[in-house]
Amino acid sequence: MVIGATIIWLVVVGLTLYAVFTERTFRPEQVRRVIIGGGALFPTIVLTGLLAYGLSMMPSLQSPAPEGSLRIDISAVRWWWRVSYHPLSTSVNPSSDTDQPDAIAFELANELVLPVDEPVEFKLSSEDVIHSFWIPAIGGKVDAIPGRITRLKLQPQRLGTYRGVCAEYCGEAHSQMSFIVKVVSREDFNRWFEHQKRPASLQVVQRSASPSTESIEDATQQASTQQASTQRDSLEFEGYQTFKRLGCGACHAIRGTDAISRVAPDLTHVGGRASLGAGWLPNDEDGFTRWLRETKKIKPGVEMPQFDALTPSELQSLATFLESLQ
Ligand code: CUA
Repeated sequence: MVIGATIIWLVVVGLTLYAVFTERTFRPEQVRRVIIGGGALFPTIVLTGLLAYGLSMMPSLQSPAPEGSLRIDISAVRWWWRVSYHPLSTSVNPSSDTDQPDAIAFELANELVLPVDEPVEFKLSSEDVIHSFWIPAIGGKVDAIPGRITRLKLQPQRLGTYRGVCAEYCGEAHSQMSFIVKVVSREDFNRWFEHQKRPASLQVVQRSASPSTESIEDATQQASTQQASTQRDSLEFEGYQTFKRLGCGACHAIRGTDAISRVAPDLTHVGGRASLGAGWLPNDEDGFTRWLRETKKIKPGVEMPQFDALTPSELQSLATFLESLQ
């Protein structure tokens, strides 16, 4: 397609330059032939061919993936992507057009991890306006429409990290509604999947929840690493307290804690993701601090309140805590 487009572009530019610089005069009949042939017939034939080619690919993109394939529900929200993985044992059921809610293994946001060379079926929906799910390097794009389910089947061919975007204007932060797609080997995928399924493994959370249940072994092990990480631990603990005090759990979930709301992105393993703010900020403590302090500036229109009244130490502890959610 690129080669064809380049040839056509060169021919058109060549003819334009020729027309501008030539001294020759043309007979009306010659002019008519160029206009009808090059201006009407040629584009009609080429565009009809391309349309047929494009349409011929659609059934395979929208057909159900084979039984046992990976299934992922994508729900578009202004302005982020809710990503829900089904348990690996649940196979694709081609007749599941009724879209009954079925088991979800875990939920994350703005990030997809896919095994290479395997078909994956996406079930797309929207929680507010029309969005469009597109991973330019792998395929797409299919609209996510409120009140309707659309489907897309893809099979990533190459390992790597790709960027996905929202391809339908959906309001203020439309251009900041990206996501990261990591295509990995089956083994890496399984390892990642098992890790995502687990609740947040937070020492601070466990300790504050049940200080008496620590085994002696745990306590000894902790004591040896304690010195180096005491400061960090106490920051994480403070951060967790701040998270609770500010009521972040009213919108966010961290599996393994009291925070279970699904209004905003699930934060169970947020520190291990590639980006913050839907593909917008680097995922590190500085990124978290900036996001919390300048939410509205970084992403105008975002629903999350801006926590710019927090003291620098509160911000730092919260950022340390969130980053520790690996
Ligand atoms: Cu969502 Cu544009």
